[in-house]
Amino acid sequence: MEGETDALANLANAAALLAQSLDGINWCGFYLLRGEDLVLGPFQGKPACVRIPMGKGVCGTAAVRRETVVVPDVERFPGHIACDPASRSEIVVPILTSGVLRGVLDVDSPEPERFTDEDRALLERFVETLAPRVDWAAL
Ligand code: SME
Repeated sequence: MEGETDALANLANAAALLAQSLDGINWCGFYLLRGEDLVLGPFQGKPACVRIPMGKGVCGTAAVRRETVVVPDVERFPGHIACDPASRSEIVVPILTSGVLRGVLDVDSPEPERFTDEDRALLERFVETLAPRVDWAAL
């Protein structure tokens, strides 16, 4: 990404990098804040729901709270939005630049309790590294 801020290119490569690097996941990608909705962005995995209102699902919850949400068992998260029925656990990391919410990173796994504190720390660092390298205004 050095020297490159094209939003779609960097987000697309970021999703591909995660899909290649993380074991035991079936979906990873971005939902981008557009008005009051999170709208599907670059991802890897099965086709997914396109639009998630703020506050809805795991993605909308992490976006409103502006903090990472780890869901060890999606069946126990009220309001979870099932895109791929194989998903059993999930982590959603909000993306902020200078206090402005830009969207979320969502990673799903077919294994229950897939995401540890270490995964959370690494994915938060991944987002912190990525966010300043994306020209969000151009999306
Ligand atoms: N499960 C998410 C919806 C997005 S899909 O997992 C790709 C949610 O509840 O927000």
